[in-house]
Amino acid sequence: MNRILVVSNRLPVNISKRNDKLEFIQSAGGLATGMSALQKTYEMVWIGWPGITRYTKDEKNEIISKLGENQLVPVFLTQQQVEQYYDNFSNRTIWPLFHYFTQYTNYEESSWDAYKNVNELFARHVLDQYHEGDMIWIHDYHLMLVPEMVRREQPDASIGYFLHIPFPSFEIFRYLPWRDSVLRGIMGADLIGFHTFDYARHFSSSIMRLQGLEHYLGQVFYDERMVRIDTFPMGINFEKYAGAPATKEVKKQVKHYKSICKESKVIISIDRLDYSKGILQRLHAFHQLLHDEPDIKGKVTLILLVVPSRDKVDSYQILKQEVDEFVGRINGEHGSISWTPIKYFYRSLPFEKVSALYSMADICLVTPFRDGMNLVAKEFVASKEKGDGVLILSEMAGSVNELSEAIVINPNDIKDIVVALQSALKMPRDEQQNRIQSMRNRLKRYDIYKWAEDYRQAGQC
Ligand code: G6P
Repeated sequence: MNRILVVSNRLPVNISKRNDKLEFIQSAGGLATGMSALQKTYEMVWIGWPGITRYTKDEKNEIISKLGENQLVPVFLTQQQVEQYYDNFSNRTIWPLFHYFTQYTNYEESSWDAYKNVNELFARHVLDQYHEGDMIWIHDYHLMLVPEMVRREQPDASIGYFLHIPFPSFEIFRYLPWRDSVLRGIMGADLIGFHTFDYARHFSSSIMRLQGLEHYLGQVFYDERMVRIDTFPMGINFEKYAGAPATKEVKKQVKHYKSICKESKVIISIDRLDYSKGILQRLHAFHQLLHDEPDIKGKVTLILLVVPSRDKVDSYQILKQEVDEFVGRINGEHGSISWTPIKYFYRSLPFEKVSALYSMADICLVTPFRDGMNLVAKEFVASKEKGDGVLILSEMAGSVNELSEAIVINPNDIKDIVVALQSALKMPRDEQQNRIQSMRNRLKRYDIYKWAEDYRQAGQC
């Protein structure tokens, strides 16, 4: 059986320590699901960071052996490497810059050095695992140098690279002091995948402007190889979301949530805590709506689920405080004894509860300033088997290309979001159903399995 080596910053299992015991927590993320589709045809080895930095020698052995049972290979990082490579370079340099938040972008030589070293470490693990004939698939912005590092030692290897976040326009990308090294790193791959045509176009324009490389129909001749640049919009596990509302656990949760929200219409908002997601703008719009239409007080509830993320990074800590304060202000100003305008949760919820929220919600409000794809929007639509529900979606989310029947808004335009909320609250049922059904058909056809399979096939050409 052929093998595929999947390489990503995080393994699909996160390890932490509680009461001096190791805890292994499985991730049910999109990537892990997509990769499972390939397990029918490939033996899969997954290389990544297990999420833990403090362990004894015995614990390290236990981790290696337990993960090894599932073909997972840990790349151990020190606390300092995590701070410099993950917190600093990945999340204080690349993440803000690629999401057009230049004001949050730091450029520090020491974190670039750490990024290079950790990418070397990942490349070393890949090379240790590599056998001739294996396919290597490297994921995301944490590991942009790994393709070239592996290529240097295995010139004939089949290497794919996929970027899960936006690739910015050349005018933004050119700010990066290490832009040439980053492009050379990615160009070590044979197949470079993006979620949208625009990101692929921006990448092609950057290699042209900075390295003089011209592409012809997405193919570039580079370093005596043909490199293909293409678009593969990541899907979701459609059947899982579509089927969940009919299960006993989800039905029970829906009943419970409905009893809490009583007769009121429900708007949901679900994101990782991140400034790119536009959470504050969303709150501004809801605040404005309550101000403009006082009659809806008591009749509409916003459920705001914010999943903690990257809490060592200052811009995330500041945002957390701002969200807390704003929610408090809106609830204080507009709430009553019997009604709280915003029900706010800062935690992650298990799948059944999230599915219940999707299933019971009348409106899903997704307003990122920039988002590589945004799977929440797709999950909401897939969960609406009866077709009743309205998606309000930012034009800056990669998923808007496949979800054009949503009410599409500009996330910088609060008035636009307010008007969208007003029309969503009044939208007739048959219109909701028509819109949702068209989007569901599309999501069903191009699900996460199809995405992974398409990419694999493209990588074989
Ligand atoms: C984005 C990135 C992923 C990352 C996820 C969670 O979706 O594209 O690579 O895993 O955010 O972020 P975290 O920093 O917790 O891994």
